Amino acid sequence: MAFDNLITEKRDGIGVITLNRPKVLNALNSALMRELGEALTAFEGDDDVAVMVITGSEKAFAAGADISEMQSKGFADVYKEDFITSEWEQILRCRKPVIAAVSGYALGGGCELAMMCDFILAADSAKFGQPEIKIGAIPGSGGTQRLTRFVGKSKAMEMCLTGRMMDADEAERSGLVSRVVPADQLLDEAMKTAGQIAGLSRMAVSMCKESVNRSYETTLSEGVLFERRVFHSVFATEDQKEGMAAFVEKRAPQWRNR
Ligand code: HXC
Repeated sequence: MAFDNLITEKRDGIGVITLNRPKVLNALNSALMRELGEALTAFEGDDDVAVMVITGSEKAFAAGADISEMQSKGFADVYKEDFITSEWEQILRCRKPVIAAVSGYALGGGCELAMMCDFILAADSAKFGQPEIKIGAIPGSGGTQRLTRFVGKSKAMEMCLTGRMMDADEAERSGLVSRVVPADQLLDEAMKTAGQIAGLSRMAVSMCKESVNRSYETTLSEGVLFERRVFHSVFATEDQKEGMAAFVEKRAPQWRNR
């Protein structure tokens, strides 16, 4: 796949997407987001890919939506084109896991993009924020909603109202990121984690992802019921038989992804 604003690579069952507009700190313009949607769709449909990783540069995962592209738009423009959200939501449609590997700035739409992924691995240099308020706007791709669920109302409100950035340690303490690693090891760690997931049953991984995501959309009792139904469904898969047989027989499982 050849893109103008991304670099894509396929390695050992992992599809890596690197945001690549270095001169503007990976500002997310429509072209980049269209390409990101295409790359995710291609990897999602590619049997050689089990897990996806989205990353940026050392200095910036993404410093937000492209302000120069947005500045002259009017309400009718953004409303009619459903700016810019519809393309971003391709991430949410992926059934394969998508990991954000964040180094440097993840601001505005960049923070929102990372939060749409299944989990965030952060370099110790990472900085997260929703600074839209400083340019007379507000987050537009779930920032006020997802950040609040991840870090709680008080911290999310302060960040959205002041534009204050959160460093990697605070992000880990607050539950925004799963883990912080040294910046020079970020991609290796992301690949290692993605590789662990890629070595598991794809059926089980996809069902597990669906169940964790359900916790954000429903009540506890409905979520637990959903989980139990999916857990019961697991017993209809060949991989459950294989996984448990392999454990009992003390051998490595041979997943059939069925
Ligand atoms: C367009 C951007 C940009 C952005 C940086 N650049 N962020 N261009 N859109 N979001 C450009 C700068 O204009 C500059 O271009 C170059 O990238 C390097 O940036 P500098 O500011 O010179 O770097 P630095 O001093 O290191 O400061 C880094 C920074 C700052 C703190 C990240 O760039 C910054 O505050 N950026 C804007 C962050 C922001 O407000 N994001 C939210 C956007 S709104 P030149 O040509 O001068 O070299 C948003 C809404 C989402 O995301 C809604 C979803 C639909």
